[in-house]
Amino acid sequence: MLPIFDTHAHYDDEAFDADRDEVLQGLAMHGVARVTDIGAGIESSKAALELSKKWDFMYCALGVIPGKCSEITDESWKWLCESAEKEEKCVAIGEIGLDYHWDDDPRDVQALWFGNQIDLAKKLGKPIVVHSRDAAKDTIDIMKAHSAGDAGGVIHCYSYTMESARDFLNMGFFFGIGGVVTFQNAKKLAEAVRFIPLSNIVLETDCPYLAPVPHRGERNYSGYLSLVADRIAEIKQMPFETVVEETWHNACRLYKLTEI
Ligand code: NI
Repeated sequence: MLPIFDTHAHYDDEAFDADRDEVLQGLAMHGVARVTDIGAGIESSKAALELSKKWDFMYCALGVIPGKCSEITDESWKWLCESAEKEEKCVAIGEIGLDYHWDDDPRDVQALWFGNQIDLAKKLGKPIVVHSRDAAKDTIDIMKAHSAGDAGGVIHCYSYTMESARDFLNMGFFFGIGGVVTFQNAKKLAEAVRFIPLSNIVLETDCPYLAPVPHRGERNYSGYLSLVADRIAEIKQMPFETVVEETWHNACRLYKLTEI
């Protein structure tokens, strides 16, 4: 079986409290050989770090998502900077970015911490995991202003047009593609996936959210990623095996991990 890399998961989420170990133990059976658990705030980053220490095949990203930035204190920022530097299993800074859909933090606060965390990633030589919703232009502007291309990384749950994809590609970024690509109404995304070279695509679940068809609405997990790879293969008219194999190599490159 070809190995699959889930580049964006939230197994620290309470949705997995009842059966986390069981779910994680079962992933190998589905070919899932590596998972990066993504911090979505300080508490979630701490939990992601613990998971990555417990499970060999897991890595973590540490970061604060827009919506939780107002909660950052001197102490928690210090913890984040120090842990991101010294913890071996921390492979990225994320998820960080802008969310103008929920607007849970004032936009200037979102922008400030997006920039600060890009700078941290650059300083540590780690890639960034970008969360960007309804904010394509400002995301690109801030990334350019902070030379985010020097850090590199992934635009997670890519939801913008082909035109924006060009800007992110020019900065050398990967695109995280997940369950949404299997939704029937995801026409704009299908167009973007057709346009983005396979060399810049990685697979992600964003679990417990965004389960692919025919599991839409259920709890998502990495075992469903073959459904996402299948849909990408269909859109790009290439063999399923090619998509799985290439996205594995891409994910290892993204997180600077040696191949197994
Ligand atoms: Ni996420």
